[in-house]
Amino acid sequence: VATVSCLLPSIRNSLEPSIWKLLEEIAQEAEHKGWHLYIVGGAVRDLLLTRNYEKVLLQDIDLVVDGFHRSADVGAGVELASTIQKKYSNCRLSVHGEFQTAALLWHKDPEFGSLWLDIATSRTEFYPYPAANPEVEASSIRQDLYRRDFTINALAVRLTPPREGELLDFFGGLLDLKAKEVRVLHANSFIEDPTRIYRAVRFAVRLKFEIEPQTEAYIRYAIESGIYEKLRLKNHVAPALTTRLKAELKYILEANYWKPALQLLSELDALKCLHNQVSLDDKIWWQIRCASRWLKYLDPDNKIGHWLIRLEILISQINIKERKQLAQNLQLPKESLERIEIVNTLSSEIQENLKKYDKTSEKYKQLYRYKLPDLMLVAVNCNKKIRRIIWQYLTQWSKVESPLNGNDLKRMGYKPGPKYKMVLDRLLSLTLDGEIQSKEEAEIIVREMMKELN
Ligand code: CTP
Repeated sequence: VATVSCLLPSIRNSLEPSIWKLLEEIAQEAEHKGWHLYIVGGAVRDLLLTRNYEKVLLQDIDLVVDGFHRSADVGAGVELASTIQKKYSNCRLSVHGEFQTAALLWHKDPEFGSLWLDIATSRTEFYPYPAANPEVEASSIRQDLYRRDFTINALAVRLTPPREGELLDFFGGLLDLKAKEVRVLHANSFIEDPTRIYRAVRFAVRLKFEIEPQTEAYIRYAIESGIYEKLRLKNHVAPALTTRLKAELKYILEANYWKPALQLLSELDALKCLHNQVSLDDKIWWQIRCASRWLKYLDPDNKIGHWLIRLEILISQINIKERKQLAQNLQLPKESLERIEIVNTLSSEIQENLKKYDKTSEKYKQLYRYKLPDLMLVAVNCNKKIRRIIWQYLTQWSKVESPLNGNDLKRMGYKPGPKYKMVLDRLLSLTLDGEIQSKEEAEIIVREMMKELN
């Protein structure tokens, strides 16, 4: 952990020069208006955790403005962001009125790369009722930091004079960084915002920290209180909560540390925040790992979103009616919703159908109409024998091609038409069953078939 007297040199050395220059410019602008500017949250945490001034790839920087003399300055963050945006035509400004924050966004910019810079007006947040979205009023930096989730995220570095570069550590965040502990700031934190349970797990696993014992007790207390189940049943609150939970779940399930994170969530019984029927018993844990292994091999570029398949498996253990409701609350894509809904019937159907056939071509016909994610969910739900057939289909049969194509048939002198499909399907079946191997054999079959069809 870096030294604390004046952090400006280490921040400067850790950041790309262009980003440092941008921060300096925003700080000057704030100073000019008589305000204070701070860099806060994850960026400070990650900067303090880097050793020897390594460069940190910061794509998400949170700034906070405070030190106002007039209550009208409550929109300071937005004002500052607009001023900066005028100087940088290549960034987009987005304002979240409700929370008085503005974001400046650069996308694949030659100078900044992809950068998301939030500028918030220092605020006290209070939650009108548990798990609601917070309401905001202007306040000082200390209170702004106090509303945050963990001590390690409640650190700020002042970027404006006097004492620029000073670390503001009101809650012992630096000690916790050194002790490698995730410590919550107040007892009610997890009742107010259950996504923080997922965040605690995410930081603990990602940073290789421990969740501090009292914090763990608060997590367990919040879960045992049954508050989330009550909220889920009250649908007017649940969607806001579940959307934020989804963002955290996605974060966790797509990270390379998803396995220990999911295990820790399960140890804390925190999967219950999704639904009281979600758990990570041996069967589900095996299903998720099996699907993930298959996906790594079958979809190495992660085109279909492996995290989503993991989530779908978790959700599919809930009874049919309620799993659909949860998937809708989580705003999962339409395809996921459909898959989750039919996975059990589809699995029995495919299992029954595959049992009836011996020939490869017939099994192929039972499977070829389904997409990879569908087969993934079915495969982990079926017995070993069926799973092997699906694996063979995905890795071998689905790649087999007929020795002749439409152009070959044309070349052989046949007029294009509906017969083509019949002939080509037959050729594919014969190839799958190992009954033809060469183009010549295929051509003989084509001639026989065309004669019969005429
Ligand atoms: N925060 C919080 N409670 C939440 C979400 C966020 O208190 N439920 C605060 C934390 O102080 C956090 C800051 O908002 O540091 C920014 O949130 P986010 O960008 O999600 O987290 P980072 O700490 O920046 O984490 P990461 O590096 O993973 O983006």
